[in-house]
Amino acid sequence: MPNPLKEGGDGLRSVSVDCLRPEDAAVELERLAAEIADHDRAYYQQDAPVISDADYDALRLRNEAIEARFPKLVRADSPSRRIGAAPVEGFAKVVHKVPMLSLANAFSREDVADFLDRVRRFLNLSADEAIEVMAEPKIDGLSVTARYVDGRFEMAATRGDGREGENITENLRTLKDLPDRIKPKDLLGGGVPEVLEVRGEVYMAKSDFRALNERQEAAGGKVFANPRNAAAGSLRQKDPAVTAARPLRVFFYGWGEVSEIAWKTQAEFNESLVDWGFQANSRARLCRSLDEIMAEYVRTEAERAALDYDIDGMVYKVNRLDWQERLGQVSRAPRWATAHKFAAEKATTVLKEITVQVGRTGVLTPVANLTPVTVGGVVVGRATLHNEDYVRDKDIREGDTVVVQRAGDVIPQVVEVVADRRPAGARPFRMPDECPECGSLAIREAGAAAKRCTGGLICPAQAVERLKHFVSRDAFDIEGLGAKNIEAFWAEGWLKSPADIFDVEGLTAKLEGREGWKEKSIDNLRKAIEERRTISLDRLIYALGIPQVGQATARLLARTYGSWAALKAAMAEAQDREGEAYADLIGIDQIGPSVADDLLGFFAEPHNRDVLAALESILDIQGMTAPDTEGSPVAGKTVVFTGTLETMGRSEAKARAENLGAKVAGSVSAKTDYLVAGPGAGSKLKKAEELGVTVLTEEEWLDLVGGR
Ligand code: IVH
Repeated sequence: MPNPLKEGGDGLRSVSVDCLRPEDAAVELERLAAEIADHDRAYYQQDAPVISDADYDALRLRNEAIEARFPKLVRADSPSRRIGAAPVEGFAKVVHKVPMLSLANAFSREDVADFLDRVRRFLNLSADEAIEVMAEPKIDGLSVTARYVDGRFEMAATRGDGREGENITENLRTLKDLPDRIKPKDLLGGGVPEVLEVRGEVYMAKSDFRALNERQEAAGGKVFANPRNAAAGSLRQKDPAVTAARPLRVFFYGWGEVSEIAWKTQAEFNESLVDWGFQANSRARLCRSLDEIMAEYVRTEAERAALDYDIDGMVYKVNRLDWQERLGQVSRAPRWATAHKFAAEKATTVLKEITVQVGRTGVLTPVANLTPVTVGGVVVGRATLHNEDYVRDKDIREGDTVVVQRAGDVIPQVVEVVADRRPAGARPFRMPDECPECGSLAIREAGAAAKRCTGGLICPAQAVERLKHFVSRDAFDIEGLGAKNIEAFWAEGWLKSPADIFDVEGLTAKLEGREGWKEKSIDNLRKAIEERRTISLDRLIYALGIPQVGQATARLLARTYGSWAALKAAMAEAQDREGEAYADLIGIDQIGPSVADDLLGFFAEPHNRDVLAALESILDIQGMTAPDTEGSPVAGKTVVFTGTLETMGRSEAKARAENLGAKVAGSVSAKTDYLVAGPGAGSKLKKAEELGVTVLTEEEWLDLVGGR
């Protein structure tokens, strides 16, 4: 759909603010108010932005600039007086009985070889044992789960954050591909499980997408950027009748909760899906070697454009179910599967300006502001330039024509400069010595890849980024309080520190009477915040935004210390960086002195302590309940593995011990309960003997945990 404002088809838009006459300014402010309101609705309520962030920011900036020059013309419905937009009235929440995981990514043959090697090592398979892998296209749609009880469709939900999604039962019911009843035929003779949750991807065929857009355009309706957006917009409709009118389809490829599993391999499951009446992708192939996998990858990529649905890579799954079970998962991705992405899509455009962004930890990142360009179906207006070395090495300058690349869900990047299109006089980029946000000195420490603002707590950019991180999906995940609203509330001075979010009455009182916020939406926000007063320990730790402490480390800390009180006490005790508490901290597998340093630094900082004290008094922090380890002889015990293990790989041993409630440490100390030593054990064994730690062979360990 042509956008006359964006294209500059309108005479006024290209007039510099300084040259506007008052009557023109009034006309333009009116149009900007309407246009920005449309974009807000598209962004906040329909999840379907139609312009890039950069273009959106440009509209708001122009609005502000005109208002600054003509303060008398500021409108009642001006975007500058409107704070974000109210959240869309949500769907009911559904907690997944079995979490919906995501996949680790591979980008090259080496990555795929690494995946197979990891599987081989974990399962302790000999080099000549073939690992059968199911290779299937990775559908670029939206993942859903559909639950059948006694063969009848009962409930469907989106993936959400993997733990909890949205109930879209009535919407999914309208899909022709979705059987209302499962066909009772089952080649395995196991019948249909009483409870069967199937998982798959909802998508829109390319041909249907084009036809839909034509219809929408003719009717003056919304035109979608790509099939995935169209599928998302169509699925998340409040009125299922709208979904029913949209040509959505679904491929199923996995399962969630199942009362009885009769299949022994992924291949058997895929066959059962078809028997039961589901659509499964017919391009799935069983491969027995890296070469076969790669051949399948190449073949599919070559045929990609001719397929009537978008795919963004391949998914490889270990075929044997008993192996899948042993491999289990790490963080939120299974060890038994990986996604192999197709090569990134690229486009050429002009780099208008390089600006510098300040992140949550003060890191300065150069950003390319581009003439918007479509890369793989998505409009890109900004791309990362990583850091100053990257810009210097590639000699990227303002005014250059550059190649932009976008792969999957990663941030678009500028990959190279088209040398012969450089305009005369283009100057090399120089990273500022001062933070562009707060003016503090920006320094680059020895060994660091980037300059960092030294403003710390006085730097507004860091503060607002920290708040955004605090409410992000894997942290507090407060519905209706996304990044844009945080920015808006921050600009108003309503939010300074995370604890301010929980002054619910104060916050919601300010929203009353604001355009775009109705009683109902304010009430929803109030409820969403109240719901998050109860928070799990791992989410809280992650939300704090401590450098180097991502989700996996946060979970590790939560599991190790169990409660907020214990964690805090340990962080206080370990400040000496020499005693037992410190040894325990760096003894945690995967936490070394560098992570420990960032953690301890965070807990020692006075302002952080204030924030933590405030949060403590208003939150209900749920300790981490260890996995169901009742009757486990090793629950709470600290175990160290060393030497070669015979029946399983080191990672499997570790994962199994943790599932039984044991802590696995990387080094032996007085706190170690067991050292499991295989052949070739060296210094750890010696140390254990000196300290009188119980030493077990692998066999004895398996006897102890009932693993044989
Ligand atoms: S298997 C344990 N198979 O990709 C997760 N996923 O990046 C098992 N996806 O959330 C996922 N096509 O939504 C699997 N053939 C396929 C897929 C597929 C698309 C999506 C799925 C998943 C995401 C992970």
